[in-house]
Amino acid sequence: MSFILPDLKRMTMRKRQIEKYYQQVENYHQTIEDSPHESFIVPPELLLQFFDPEGTIVDVAGGSGINRQIFHLQGGTYISVDLSLRGLRIAQEGHRGMQLQASVESLPIRNGSVDTVLCSWSLEHMTDPEIVFDEMVRIVKPGGRILLWGPNWDNIFRKDFPQFVHKPPEYVWWVRWKIFFRMIKNEFLPFHYNPYINFDVAALADPNRYISGDTDAVHCVLCQETYKWFIQKGMFIVHLSDLSEMGKHVHNGIVIRTLRIILKPLLPVLRRVPFVRWFVIRFPIVVEKPR
Ligand SMILES: C[S@@+](CC[C@H](N)C(=O)[O-])C[C@H]1O[C@@H](n2cnc3c(N)ncnc32)[C@H](O)[C@@H]1O
Repeated sequence: MSFILPDLKRMTMRKRQIEKYYQQVENYHQTIEDSPHESFIVPPELLLQFFDPEGTIVDVAGGSGINRQIFHLQGGTYISVDLSLRGLRIAQEGHRGMQLQASVESLPIRNGSVDTVLCSWSLEHMTDPEIVFDEMVRIVKPGGRILLWGPNWDNIFRKDFPQFVHKPPEYVWWVRWKIFFRMIKNEFLPFHYNPYINFDVAALADPNRYISGDTDAVHCVLCQETYKWFIQKGMFIVHLSDLSEMGKHVHNGIVIRTLRIILKPLLPVLRRVPFVRWFVIRFPIVVEKPR
């Protein structure tokens, strides 16, 4: 008996519904724009470290264009692609650059034409992340780079693991262990394999719930699977965050800071331990397309 397959089937049926939601939603992006949380913004120093800020950047599912400033300041060309007209309008206000309304599963951009692809806090909202990854690889120039950022949801035993909200406990445990054993066997877990959170599309329209619980996320993106996917596609890994950077850009409380200090010397060892090594990998991940 499978709990996951029926979910998948339902998800496919809801895909158009979800797309419609992103196209129509009015207050969602305004809420993010009005109350930006610093943890949602990709740190400029990270972008400047890995990218040519004067080049062309495509922000995949760029929403209200929260990442645009740094590129405009440095003279680069910022292009945001998103389904949401409202988001794109905000991105346009007072800024140069280009906003394209399209699904990121089919980017209206030529092959090998951009220097940088950025995707922040969006992968978990894609109904088919692998198609989106393919599109990113297609549009980036040889030698160009892709930066991926999202929630680190790799701990499937986390109590508030969003996928399990409102699910019966037996479902939660069945899925957890199933994922866990496949991880031990080092099997690639297609992103669809990770169960979806939200079947209540109406709930997506509540921006307050969105901010607190990533309400409109439709599946989970595991950092290690993202990493494996890009390796399989022949991309070079330029930067991997690891546990020593856990929450670095997000939380700087005493507990997290102490944990980071304790973990740092252990990491070279942990990276060699089969299975455990996958949990060392965190977003952000930067990959480069071979020349
Ligand atoms: C949580 S927001 C993140 C926005 C932005 N990247 C940021 O860091 O604030 C997720 C975005 O994904 C967009 N989105 C979801 N599915 C999409 C699709 N198939 N094509 C284009 N945009 C999509 C939504 O419209 C929304 O703007």
